Amino acid sequence: MTVVATNPTKIGGPRPPLQGISIRDALDADLPAIVEIYNAAIRGRISTAQLEPVSVEERLPWFRVHSPESHPLWVAEVEGQIAGWLSFQSFLTRAAYRRTAEISVYVNEKFRRGGVGHMLLEKAMTQSPRLEINALVGCIFGHNEPSLRLFERLGFERWGFLPCIARVDDVERDLVIVGRHIPLQA
Ligand SMILES: CC(C)(COP(=O)(O)OP(=O)(O)OC[C@H]1O[C@@H](n2cnc3c(N)ncnc32)[C@H](O)[C@@H]1OP(=O)(O)O)[C@@H](O)C(=O)NCCC(=O)NCCS
Repeated sequence: MTVVATNPTKIGGPRPPLQGISIRDALDADLPAIVEIYNAAIRGRISTAQLEPVSVEERLPWFRVHSPESHPLWVAEVEGQIAGWLSFQSFLTRAAYRRTAEISVYVNEKFRRGGVGHMLLEKAMTQSPRLEINALVGCIFGHNEPSLRLFERLGFERWGFLPCIARVDDVERDLVIVGRHIPLQA
């Protein structure tokens, strides 16, 4: 298989889907690869409000909060490599929001535009009823066009717009909240 690196911010055409993508619950041993993908996205400056790289140790509490039965953390594997990951987390901690989850999805740059993000997000939607989640939201910078398009492609709508709420390298950035209701009896 040939994996072609792409510019993560370029609005280019799709490429043939990667073959043999599999998704499973993340294991402790996956955390370094998960962190590596996250740190590359931090450097890219369009994905996350985290501005400094994180260490595996710093990410451990976040990792431990996930559970396959309530708020999963999944990894997508391609030929034995961690190509991407998706996490569920509480949207807001108060009880009335317990059926709403925020999801984050990150794909290794060299596997992008091959369908990994789409497959992870699609699985989040199909598994939500089992997890008793009936609304999914994503919090995305307004200049993160690839991610906005990914969520839109899966039927998410723009539910919120918070102008100039973040400051990244002296540039004020907007936050878009995308969301989608998931019927519990899917
Ligand atoms: C956003 C991201 C997860 C997409 O993952 P991916 O595996 O490359 O996406 P896919 O190949 O599954 O693409 C699915 C759809 O997303 C959209 N998309 C993905 N990348 C795109 C890009 N660079 N430009 C335009 N649209 C893009 C397209 O609609 C695409 O459908 P298509 O291929 O039929 O046109 C990936 O770019 C990434 O990891 N970005 C950094 C992390 C991030 O921003 N996460 C969001 C915060 S939650």
